[in-house]
Amino acid sequence: MNVLVIGGGGREHALAWKLRQSPRVNQVFIAPGNAGTALEGRNVEIKVSELNQLLNFAQQESVDLTVVGPDDVLAAGIVDLFENAGLRIFGPCKEAARLESSKSFAKRFMIRHGIPTARFGEYESSRAAKDALHDFGFPLAVKADGLALGKGVVIAQDRREAEAAVDDMIERRRFGDAGRKIIIEEFLSGVECSVHALVNSRSYLVFPTAQDHKQLCDGNRGPNTGGMGTFSPSRQIDAGLLQEIRDKILDPFMQGIRQDNLLFRGLLFPGLMLTKDGPRVLEFNCRFGDPETQVLMPRLETDLLDLLEASITDQLDAISTEWDNRSAVCVVMASGGYPGDYETGKAIAGLENVSEMEDVKVFHAGTRRRGDQILTSGGRVLGITAVGNTLSVASKRAYEAVDQIEFDGRYFRRDIGSV
Ligand SMILES: Nc1ncnc2c1ncn2[C@@H]1O[C@H](COP(=O)(O)OP(=O)(O)O)[C@@H](O)[C@H]1O
Ligand SMILES: [Mg+2]
Repeated sequence: MNVLVIGGGGREHALAWKLRQSPRVNQVFIAPGNAGTALEGRNVEIKVSELNQLLNFAQQESVDLTVVGPDDVLAAGIVDLFENAGLRIFGPCKEAARLESSKSFAKRFMIRHGIPTARFGEYESSRAAKDALHDFGFPLAVKADGLALGKGVVIAQDRREAEAAVDDMIERRRFGDAGRKIIIEEFLSGVECSVHALVNSRSYLVFPTAQDHKQLCDGNRGPNTGGMGTFSPSRQIDAGLLQEIRDKILDPFMQGIRQDNLLFRGLLFPGLMLTKDGPRVLEFNCRFGDPETQVLMPRLETDLLDLLEASITDQLDAISTEWDNRSAVCVVMASGGYPGDYETGKAIAGLENVSEMEDVKVFHAGTRRRGDQILTSGGRVLGITAVGNTLSVASKRAYEAVDQIEFDGRYFRRDIGSV
């Protein structure tokens, strides 16, 4: 069958790579893809925002299954569009995707269904928001309600910082309409982690754990990024905690989507804070994580197509999954300056040195081909992934590969998988 993957990052490269391994897949299309996905299938020059063109393409090329990577494409309603046209697509419908695309919608869902989360309020006027600050104490979290490329959350240490964040979002519309409404939350302290679960309307299937490194610098310091690396399994989540996450978060989530009649056949990836009073949900992501997918796919032994199909046909309870019990580490190589301004168009050297390395896979993110060269084209450029018997073996192997790859201004952390 023909499969279309929508998106152009490392996550989509990992999904396309895995789907290509399915004996039932003839052709993988990736829209728009990158220089790496072009090696797994055929890139299609359609932007992720051009939903009607994507639909036309899927119809013309007899695409049997479409897999959506990015959150904003789900929020724009691509699943409803494809399903109304009779096409099979993996992901939550637009209304269910609001669990990610509107933080107030998600918070109300959690409160309604008894899912533990931080106390919050929602505000559309900066006056009302500022008046409410003292109810939360400091620090507190100020969040744009809508999608803001992972930049819409400010942890304010005092009233001055909180008021500046409120004005930035509501008055100055720093995040456009995403900040028309904001939420304010009590601060939760603890360690962050996340889980991935494949969901259909009856049941869910939890993936092995993975943990990302959001901060730019070694030792988990510096500004937050889209993710500088990731490893699997996580050191934070043991069997007991996973059971608690099932009981307190995933089971009530399933009951909630049933009661609220939300059609959710896709990937649920909640961000959690492990507090001294137990896990609390920070947010619901409604798609695969990036870069978490880059360490999960190399460990997946079951055909990914079988899993995605079981989700959209509500047969997850009938499927068994096999995972490689080794560890995986993914080191992100980024453009110097990221997550701020950075240059692109730098030639990447050394990819051929690592293409034959055992247990190493390079997933491309911000890359494009020009003639014989592969050039950088984004902030996060490559995700160098390795598997090994232990996290430290996997990490050592990943860094051996990283050291072979050069581009002007390349930046990466040295401690992925070891802190
Ligand atoms: N209530 C909170 N208490 C403490 N830290 C928080 C809180 N909410 C968010 N954060 C921090 O802000 C980050 C981003 O928040 P999140 O809700 O995940 O938004 P997004 O991923 O959409 O930017 C979290 O990963 C966490 O580090
Ligand atoms: Mg988050």
